Amino acid sequence: MKLWTGRFSKEADKITNDFNSSIGTDKRMYREDIEGSIAHAEMLGIQGIISPEDADAIIGGLKQIKSEIDSGTLEIDMTAEDIHTFVEGELTKRIGDAGKRLHTARSRNDQVALDIRLNLMKECDEVDGLLRRLIGVLADMGEKYADAVMSGYTHLQRAQPVTFGHYMLAYAEMFLRDIERLADCKKRTARSPLGCCALAGTTYNTDRYKTAELLGFSDICHNSLDGVSDRDFIIEFSSCLSIISVHLSRFSEEIILWCSHEFKYIELDDAFSTGSSIMPQKKNPDIAELVRGKSGRVFGDNMNILTVMKGIPLAYNKDMQEDKDCIFDASDTVKACLTAFIPMIETMNVKTENLRKAAAGGFINATDCADYLVSKGIPFRDAYKITGALVALCIEKNTTLEELPLDEYKKLSEKFDEGVYEAVNLDRCVNSRTSAGGPAPENVRAEAKRVKSLI
Ligand code: ARG
Repeated sequence: MKLWTGRFSKEADKITNDFNSSIGTDKRMYREDIEGSIAHAEMLGIQGIISPEDADAIIGGLKQIKSEIDSGTLEIDMTAEDIHTFVEGELTKRIGDAGKRLHTARSRNDQVALDIRLNLMKECDEVDGLLRRLIGVLADMGEKYADAVMSGYTHLQRAQPVTFGHYMLAYAEMFLRDIERLADCKKRTARSPLGCCALAGTTYNTDRYKTAELLGFSDICHNSLDGVSDRDFIIEFSSCLSIISVHLSRFSEEIILWCSHEFKYIELDDAFSTGSSIMPQKKNPDIAELVRGKSGRVFGDNMNILTVMKGIPLAYNKDMQEDKDCIFDASDTVKACLTAFIPMIETMNVKTENLRKAAAGGFINATDCADYLVSKGIPFRDAYKITGALVALCIEKNTTLEELPLDEYKKLSEKFDEGVYEAVNLDRCVNSRTSAGGPAPENVRAEAKRVKSLI
C-alpha cells in the first residue's frame, strides 16, 4: 500500500520501489515511530482535531501493533515503502477510518525527523552507559596501580617517570570528556520537530508543546523549515562517536605495543586474546587491533553524513534518507567496540615488575638530576648540560644514574654529593611530582576518587 497514489496514473516501477524503499533501515525505529504517533493522536484528540473515540481507537491499535512487533507475532512487511507506511497501513487495516485520520496535521518529513531524534537519544544513553562502565574500570586501576612506577613517553622514547595508575586515569579523562560531549549533543537532539509537518506547519490548531512534553523533549524546533531539515544532531552524534573512536584507537595502540614481547608491560587474558592457525606460540591482541581498525568505519560514517548534508537546500530532500545507515552503523560499531574493550582491559594482567625494569633503564630521572643541581644554585640551562654529559657518560660505561659512582658525578660538577642518589631514586621522582594533575601516588588516588564521583 502507498500513501501517495492519488495523482499518479501508473504504478511505480519495481526499480523505483526498490530504490526508494527505506524499510530495511527504518524498521529499526518502529518503537519510536509508534510512540510518536501515539503522542500525535493524543494531541489531536485533546485539541478536538479528531474525536476522542478516534484518538482512543488509534492509540489502542498502535499499542497493540507495538506489542505484537515486540513479541514477534507481527512481522514487519519488507515490501512496505518505509516504517511509517507500514505502521499506518497496519493500523488502518485494524481500525478502519480512524486509522486514516492519524496523519492529519503531520507529514512523513516531521515524522521521520522525530523518529530519528528519539532513537538517537536512546543510542546516546547506551553509549554513555558503556563509557561509564569503562571509566569505572579505569578508575579502579588508577587506584590499584597508583604506586606502580613506569616510564612515561614522548616520541615513544622513555621520558619521565609516571605510574600505571596515572596512565589509566589519562584515558579516563578522555572518556569523561566524551560523556560531556554526548550530554551536550543530546541536549540539542531533545527538541521536537513533530508538527512542523511537511515544511510549513499547519492550519490546524495543533499543540506542538504538548506532543513535545508527551515524548520527553525539553523544547520544540522553533522553525518549521529547519525542524524538518535539520540533521545537525546526527552530525554531532557522529562526531562524538568519531572522537570516542580516536580515544579507543589510541588506547588500543598502546595495548598492542604493551603486550608485545619487546615491552611485556601487560598480558591480555586468554579469554580476550586469539591464536594463530599456523604459529602455535602466538597470542594475539585481536580485540585491540579490531577496535583500532573499526575507527576507520566510524570516521567514514561521519564523512558520509557530512557529505550528504552539505549541499541540501531547505527543506526536506530525499537525500536525507541516507542519514540513518551511517549513524546506526557508527553507533553499533562503537557499542560493539566498547563491549569487547571493557572486559579486555578489566582482565589484563599488568606486569608491574617489567614496568619498573623498563623505567630504571631509560634515564627518565635525568630531569630530576638536573633539578637537583638547580637546588644547589646552578642555573637550569647549565644543570641540563651537565646532566646531558652525565647521561652520555653512563651510556659509555653501560650504567645508570642510580649506579654511577659519586667521583664520576663530581668530575662534572663539584656541587654533587650523596644527596644525588636520593634525587634520582625513581620512587622519589614520582612521589615528589605533586603538582596538580601530576603522577604522585597521593594525587592519583585522589583523582581516582574524583573520577568515580563523576560517574
Ligand atoms: N524514508 C524517508 C526518510 O528516511 C522518510 C521521509 C519521506 N518523506 C518524503 N517526503 N518522501 O527520509
